[in-house]
Amino acid sequence: MPGRDAGRALKCGVAPEGGYCFMGKRSRLNLGQAATMAAALFRIHALRRRSPLFVSWNITFHCNLHCQYCNTHSIRRKEWDLPQILAGLDTLWGQGVRWITFGGGEPFLKKGLGEILAHAKGLGFNVFLSTNGGLASEHRADLGWVDHVNISLDGPREVHDLVRGAGAFDKALEGVDVCREEGASVSLLCVLSKHNLKHVEEVVSIASERGLTVMFQPATRWLNSSVESNPICPPVDAYRATVARLKTLKKGGAPIRNSLGGLDHIAHWPDPTPIWCVAGRLISVLEPDGSVLTCHQAQVGSFLKTECAEAPLAERFCCAQIPQGCVQCWCAPLVELALLFSLRPSSIFNAFKNLL
Ligand SMILES: C[S@@+](CC[C@H](N)C(=O)[O-])C[C@H]1O[C@@H](n2cnc3c(N)ncnc32)[C@H](O)[C@@H]1O
Ligand code: SF4
Ligand code: SF4
Repeated sequence: MPGRDAGRALKCGVAPEGGYCFMGKRSRLNLGQAATMAAALFRIHALRRRSPLFVSWNITFHCNLHCQYCNTHSIRRKEWDLPQILAGLDTLWGQGVRWITFGGGEPFLKKGLGEILAHAKGLGFNVFLSTNGGLASEHRADLGWVDHVNISLDGPREVHDLVRGAGAFDKALEGVDVCREEGASVSLLCVLSKHNLKHVEEVVSIASERGLTVMFQPATRWLNSSVESNPICPPVDAYRATVARLKTLKKGGAPIRNSLGGLDHIAHWPDPTPIWCVAGRLISVLEPDGSVLTCHQAQVGSFLKTECAEAPLAERFCCAQIPQGCVQCWCAPLVELALLFSLRPSSIFNAFKNLL
């Protein structure tokens, strides 16, 4: 287990793998990491090999909220305990993973989260959290190990609370402040549903007033973690008109984290739209029970479990099936990663802008 000071040192801009920070404060990209990405690009495109740099680890199914478009909180499966998770982190590091996002469910509810984050940081991972932000103030100490926090924000107070429950808006913004006070960088993620299409300008203003960026993605046609249909899926025409407004705002300099290419892509939702698929090649998903998925997007028809679920993690991780022919890629961070690693110039430029 690394010493607490290791995490604190990162706040002063000392990069985990040495090298020069492109940014002040806690580093998100240094020369070593940029070289790792370049090597991954070479492996994937020139050698046609996998390069699993990124893992999205849904660390728990439990959640403190019951959002209208998600039922992860209702899943009752046994979850990995702390020793399994710490050993899993060692395995992932050995497999070449360098960026890890802990989500869920609500990651702050995972028992031992502080130890998990500290272990990940001590190994050298770039540690991201995906959270509703509501429990951040109770976990200040854990945030010392986190580089970047992504907090969900689905609209101004009345809209966010309609989707996510009374009081969730204020708690999310409190979470933004807490995470920043603890030295992590923060961005927002807004899911476009039938409730918030008229409110995206307000979401952009909330982000802008706080010096944050915000990424937009469509709600899926079914509940997250379920095959039940999503009651707040947006109407297609109004959704597309909203994405067009976002494009105009972005061109005017609004702090929208999607690239213009990314907005062009999600504007096609829900029509079949091919994109270079990152699943299994560049990113994998771990579930709370240790299952490995190449993609957690239910749009691919079913969750893509590996064929050897009982094998050790390293083996399952290597043999996870790469999806073929998926034309329903709407998770905005995956879209941005796909465009970035397809060397789309506007996405490369956008990624650097977001980092700075
Ligand atoms: C599953 S949540 C886990 C992290 C945390 N509990 C939260 O809400 O931010 C990760 C992201 O998925 C988004 N999400 C959940 N259900 C969705 C759906 N049906 N369609 C699109 N995005 C969804 C959430 O809004 C959140 O930004
Ligand atoms: S979207 Fe996040 S906060 Fe909402 S129910 Fe799902 S896991 Fe919980
Ligand atoms: S949603 Fe489809 S295209 Fe996108 S990463 Fe997943 S499997 Fe690949």
